[in-house]
Amino acid sequence: MKKIRLYPSGHEVECQQGETVLAALEKAGYALPNNCRAGACGECKIKVRQGEFDQGMVLDMALAPEERDQGFGLMCMAKPLSDLLEIEWGTEDAQPKLFPPRENVSFVVVERLVRTHRIIELRLRPVGKPLRYWPGQYVLVNHPDNQIPPRAYSIANASRPDGEISLQIARVEGGGISNWVHANLKVGDRIKLSGPYGTFIGDPAAETPVLCLAAGTGLAPIMALAEAALSRGYRQPVTVLFSAPTSDDLYDTGRLLLWQAKHRNFKFVRTLTREQGEAPLGRIPAILPEMFPDLSRHSVYAAGSPEFVEACIAAARELGAKEALMHTEGFFEQQSLPETPSADRLL
Ligand code: FES
Repeated sequence: MKKIRLYPSGHEVECQQGETVLAALEKAGYALPNNCRAGACGECKIKVRQGEFDQGMVLDMALAPEERDQGFGLMCMAKPLSDLLEIEWGTEDAQPKLFPPRENVSFVVVERLVRTHRIIELRLRPVGKPLRYWPGQYVLVNHPDNQIPPRAYSIANASRPDGEISLQIARVEGGGISNWVHANLKVGDRIKLSGPYGTFIGDPAAETPVLCLAAGTGLAPIMALAEAALSRGYRQPVTVLFSAPTSDDLYDTGRLLLWQAKHRNFKFVRTLTREQGEAPLGRIPAILPEMFPDLSRHSVYAAGSPEFVEACIAAARELGAKEALMHTEGFFEQQSLPETPSADRLL
């Protein structure tokens, strides 16, 4: 077993025989930008400070000879030869580089699913190059004639090879884009998005139990984060706690229960705030102490309306959660036209 050491943090990652540095980093939860994964684009270029590696066949335009001389390598193809390979990982360890946002990227609506009485999900395929993003990020949905200000929606899935993204759109009273989407947008229509934006991507280096708290369409970024974590084999316990007023407001439970059946470390719990039924019942801040008396080792992710997020974070803090391990979805505050779904306020 070879080791990859990240400089300057000194964190070490194991690399199996025959595995590329990129694959080993991803398995360990480190997000290194990449694109072609075949030594042709140069996105995964990184400086190797110490140790030997087999670079494999890569294109000169992706890695120039002088860059090789300076110690750079393409990690999608590089396989360690020495027992230890030390690579540079920026000054802030394990902070993934954000992809530069793009403007007005064209997508086609390939599916339109009714999720609840007020939420629809749009499945969108890119007309050109896929939009590259980290799970947890959001896009702006633009009106075709720019008559209505754009509105932010989190991407609800981890990235896929075909570039399909899902957006969950709650109809909001007086909300320009949400009403336009609900009333007008059909399968086959084109839609323009800008993005990705946001830093609700957590710390890919954290190796802690994870607690995700969501209400309303705050579930969208949580779905993307959980899907990405499970597909890269995250081993620590992951719990998604979803708050809804009534059982009619719950959605995506099928996928969450499938993950629970497939992954022993994944648990899905729902709570209802306006309906009687099986426990747990009540608002997340109220039920959290009994469910998670000690959050001092947990990473906590909270997404939903600002009031919901604030109340959850305050409760998590009371239970010992560390500031550095608490992540919140904050895009509601960046809206020129706030469209916080009203039902989300019900918690
Ligand atoms: S991802 Fe394209 S060169 Fe490595």
